[in-house]
Amino acid sequence: MTNNLTVIVLAAGGGTRMRSKTPKVLHPVCGRSMLGHVLHAVQTLEPRQVVAVVGHQRELVGPHVKELLPDALLAVQEDQLGTGHAVRVAVEAAGGIGSGTVLVAYGDTPLLEGESLRAFAAEHEAAERAVSILSGIVPAPFGYGRVVRDADGDVVAIVEEKDATPEQREIHEINSGILAFDAAFLAEALPQIGNDNAKGEYYLTDCVQLARDAGLTVGAYPLEDVLQTEGANDRAQLADLGREMNRRILTRWMREGVSVMDPATTWVDADVELAQDVTILPGTQLLGATVVGEDAVIGPDTTLQDCEIGAGARVVRTHGQLAVVGQDANVGPFAYLRPGTHLGEGGKIGTFVETKNSTLAAGAKVPHLSYVGDAEVGEGTNIGAGTIFANYDGVAKHRTTIGRHARTGSNNTFVAPVTVGDGAGTGAGTVVREDVPAGDLAVSAGPQRNVEGWVLRRRAGTAQAAAAEAVRDSAHTGSDADVDGVGGTPPPGGES
Ligand code: UD1
Ligand code: CA
Repeated sequence: MTNNLTVIVLAAGGGTRMRSKTPKVLHPVCGRSMLGHVLHAVQTLEPRQVVAVVGHQRELVGPHVKELLPDALLAVQEDQLGTGHAVRVAVEAAGGIGSGTVLVAYGDTPLLEGESLRAFAAEHEAAERAVSILSGIVPAPFGYGRVVRDADGDVVAIVEEKDATPEQREIHEINSGILAFDAAFLAEALPQIGNDNAKGEYYLTDCVQLARDAGLTVGAYPLEDVLQTEGANDRAQLADLGREMNRRILTRWMREGVSVMDPATTWVDADVELAQDVTILPGTQLLGATVVGEDAVIGPDTTLQDCEIGAGARVVRTHGQLAVVGQDANVGPFAYLRPGTHLGEGGKIGTFVETKNSTLAAGAKVPHLSYVGDAEVGEGTNIGAGTIFANYDGVAKHRTTIGRHARTGSNNTFVAPVTVGDGAGTGAGTVVREDVPAGDLAVSAGPQRNVEGWVLRRRAGTAQAAAAEAVRDSAHTGSDADVDGVGGTPPPGGES
């Protein structure tokens, strides 16, 4: 195949049946817009030029095209006078197209694959045709242009539904909308297309008849996988195509060595990367540019957007966004990883823990019920249960730094900015407002005071008082009743 290829993508239509303020071609399917999928497929052909025809809501569609394909040319079609008119606008915007092949595609066919376009263009060029039609044989051809063949099976025309005779409407071979042209022929044919038809539109498909009239070759190349050229006109069709795309993505990954326990409840976006022997458990969504390393197990019931999960990591019932989880680390169940979370190798972000903009070095653990925001936690450090990194003073955010192999007690509050040194400790319930030097133990709670007999005096007659009294009575009758854990120095506590 030559690389003298121009691709024209039609995306000027209104898409009114979506009933949306978002342009039809920008609706997402598996992590990309419909148009994004088409441009992605087109890009794999490395065309000389891509021209996108924009019209409706071009202030949104145009920038989207330029973001995905900065070299693409935008052609503005003010009024949508038909596919023939759209292509004419594209050719004019390009200042003519010279020689080579011109491929026309639509912006709303998300399942389209580059390989199908490549095979189609190659076939078109090998057959040296003026026009080639990517066709499809469908059970329900209603609404499509029909590929009309003569007694020898040669293609003679494409007839639109509204212009078709009852016999022509019985034809099941349809025009997918994707056409390939010899550039020189297209340049000659475009000005000859009229709009004398049922819709009063300039039909690009009239080129087939024009080529025949000029004695040039035309042909149709049926694509077996017709879903690839199917467009979504409303949100129900969009959901159908989305489910189909997800099914295809999962099938591809399973063939690459990924285990998907329940494909029906697993969603993986088009740009996600999964290594061999990854296991995905039910109810999991891997979105955006998420990357998962070998042997990692994700799920059940986990959503990860733009996350990087290391090999052998385990992420259970977790919601994560823009987070990095190291090799063999453990996350969840019920963790919330917010942007900027970096969990080191073998580390743990456990149950009911929220993290944000924080780095936990290798082997660092925050096992239970904590908020870690704007923090640096050193290697091998354990953060006690129920700890809050108080990063916000009501005006600005501040950072907390905790050194290596520290042990902090349960129910601590780190009032940032504050630093806890390597190997330091803190007692349970400590409010850490001042820096703790390496190796020191910080305790902030005052000594405990027991007010003797308070319950018996102030809560007399209650179950609480009765329970207390029962212990006192048995103590007086000489039983050995003892209460564990009241003697000695309280440990820092809270690690587990
Ligand atoms: C078109 C084809 C038909 C084919 C069908 C496949 C013609 C005349 N008919 O019919 O043979 O079976 O697609 O889906 O080509 N567009 C523009 N500017 C315009 C008109 C259309 O950009 O002025 C874009 C639309 O946004 C859309 C695509 O071109 O993405 C097709 O237009 P549409 O009006 O839907 O064509 P159909 O009537 O479906
Ligand atoms: Ca259509």
